[in-house]
Amino acid sequence: MEDHPLSPNLGESVGGGEFPPIDYLEWYVPRLQAGVSHDLSQSGFHFPWDWQKLSGGKMPADLTNPFTETPLDAREWVAKREGVKPSQVAGGHGVSQSLVFALLSVMNPEKPRKVAVEMPSYAPVSQFPRALGCEVLPFWRGPKNSDDCGSWRIDRDSLQSIIDDVCAVITTPVQNPTGWMMDEDDQQWLSDICSDNDVGLISDEVYLDTTKGTPHYRPMHKYGPHCVSVNSLTKCYGLGPLRMGWIIGSEKTATNALRVMNNMQGMLATPSLRLAEMAWPYLDEPLALIEKRRETNLQHLIDVLSANSIEWKPPPTGIFGCIPLPPYVDCQRFVEDICSKHGVLATPALMFSSKLPNMVRVAWGGEPEAFVAAMDAFDSCLQELK
Ligand SMILES: Cc1ncc(COP(=O)(O)O)c(C=O)c1O
Repeated sequence: MEDHPLSPNLGESVGGGEFPPIDYLEWYVPRLQAGVSHDLSQSGFHFPWDWQKLSGGKMPADLTNPFTETPLDAREWVAKREGVKPSQVAGGHGVSQSLVFALLSVMNPEKPRKVAVEMPSYAPVSQFPRALGCEVLPFWRGPKNSDDCGSWRIDRDSLQSIIDDVCAVITTPVQNPTGWMMDEDDQQWLSDICSDNDVGLISDEVYLDTTKGTPHYRPMHKYGPHCVSVNSLTKCYGLGPLRMGWIIGSEKTATNALRVMNNMQGMLATPSLRLAEMAWPYLDEPLALIEKRRETNLQHLIDVLSANSIEWKPPPTGIFGCIPLPPYVDCQRFVEDICSKHGVLATPALMFSSKLPNMVRVAWGGEPEAFVAAMDAFDSCLQELK
């Protein structure tokens, strides 16, 4: 099960006592803080937002005033961009808090307080229901074998065997660490099994927007009133520190989510919303630069991998993918012992599940010149495995 020291801590409801850590953060944050020459570990895009330009060089007058003549209503902007009604939207601080609001809005109150969470996944997504008094039960959407880096399929038996016992299901359609969008028939199957069993389906879509304009763009809220999409400006737009997130669902779900927000948060952070409002007209710029970085950078990664006899198919969109190392290589040892010698930081896939021992997540969203140097260094890391 999920018992590796880097992997998510699933299990029963928690509070007080020994609260479970997010183990990967304890591993990752000190490494980032120490500084690395070649950071291939980003999951979010680093976009050079020019606040001087966006603000016209001066502090917005209403930075901390939420009640202006033109209302500060993020639901309006989200609704317009996503083609839904404002009454279907509710805000939260990042995907992280919006997931809390989403779960509390769509869980079935008649069912056991247990939540099915897709694994492998990002630890806070798999662990947070425990803090809400829920037990977390895993279902599996993982590799067929030690070379398979996506797209991964849902193990339908693993969800079918627990669906009677849960009040909600959580999925991350564009998966971390593979970067692949869920196949369409899995997505429909997931929606169907949830509606057949009368449980809510919460969809973490923090990486989905790199698929906008492609057939892979299929937000879950379109699959029925039991489904709720959760998104933010964090990853695809490079604005994580703003903590600007939202949910989209049925009007009933959004009303519930707004009430949950009022219960737990009162109001959202006005300065964040003001800054998000300034960036909002330009949100397509980071998406375009992500596309451009794929064109300039991705082939370098593919070349380095094939020079090291690693066959790999990148996900069709986004800035990261999951790379299979030879099956005997431990990804944590590789990053700690080999990559660190060459100034490289990559993400061990063990952070997402103890069942991914030989994979690393690698990002190609960096600035092109730096990325060429990073690929040289990464090549040296891989050569050490020979
Ligand atoms: C799948 C997934 N969901 C959510 C988050 C965090 O999103 P936010 O910063 O909007 O809370 C991350 C960050 O790594 C993530 O990988």
